[in-house]
Amino acid sequence: MPQHRPAEPDIRRYYTEVFAEADRLHRTPQGRLEARRTRDLLARALPAPPAVVLDVGGGTGAYAGWLAGAGHRVHLVDLVPAHAAAARTAYPEVTATVGDARELPLPDGSADATLLLGPLYHLPDRADRVTALREAVRVTRPGGPVVAAVISRNAALIDLTAQGRVDERSRPLLLGAYATGVNDPETGFTTAYFHRPEQLVEEFAAAGLPAPRLYGVEGPLWPLLNALDSGPDDRLFHDAVACAAAFEQDPAVLGASAHLLAVAPA
Ligand SMILES: C[S@@+](CC[C@H](N)C(=O)[O-])C[C@H]1O[C@@H](n2cnc3c(N)ncnc32)[C@H](O)[C@@H]1O
Repeated sequence: MPQHRPAEPDIRRYYTEVFAEADRLHRTPQGRLEARRTRDLLARALPAPPAVVLDVGGGTGAYAGWLAGAGHRVHLVDLVPAHAAAARTAYPEVTATVGDARELPLPDGSADATLLLGPLYHLPDRADRVTALREAVRVTRPGGPVVAAVISRNAALIDLTAQGRVDERSRPLLLGAYATGVNDPETGFTTAYFHRPEQLVEEFAAAGLPAPRLYGVEGPLWPLLNALDSGPDDRLFHDAVACAAAFEQDPAVLGASAHLLAVAPA
């Protein structure tokens, strides 16, 4: 049985005591853009329903519930007990258990598709991220898609700058995270890792996966959404979605998204 360092305790504390995950994807236009684009990309990446979909780091079930509603059989695994419980309550058709992406409590080949939309950016050590990807490969039937999301290297600096929240205290922390990829929890988020696109490709290869298809999730317009009033017809939101779709696989624009999504067959 492999031994891992326990997940950083600040991750459980952050999601239990500090941050409300349940409405993260509805609360702000930026969250709604992430949700809309992630759903568009998942709809293309996943097999047609009904498939067995494993949602690792599924949080409170935003995607699990949507996928179950589309006819998939969804099992969610999350590190935070309150998240697994909230997912079960909100989406009774989803099964949910507490677990660590690095040691999934599931048999080999038991899922038709596996999502890792959270754990990779909460594991600051590369070896842990590769282990999580290997576990996703192990539990997915050969050929089924492994879909992983990461936070883009420059997203925190762009986000806080667009919100006018960079000051003398936070600037060095944000520049440090930009330089090394490792976020200091003093920024207000958790221990986290922010990827460059080529690092995600390299980590897929280290886990034995083929070169993934890489997508920018939000596209380059996301920082404007929280800063500007989109107007009654939400025109900016729709334009941001269209812009993200237009550039989604352009290597020159990938890193401008807040999140990157990688898809490869197990
Ligand atoms: C920002 S939330 C994302 C939730 C959802 N997947 C989404 O994309 O909206 C990140 C989730 O990853 C979970 N997580 C972090 N590290 C994990 C690990 N090592 N194993 C399993 N879940 C983990 C957290 O508890 C949290 O629920």
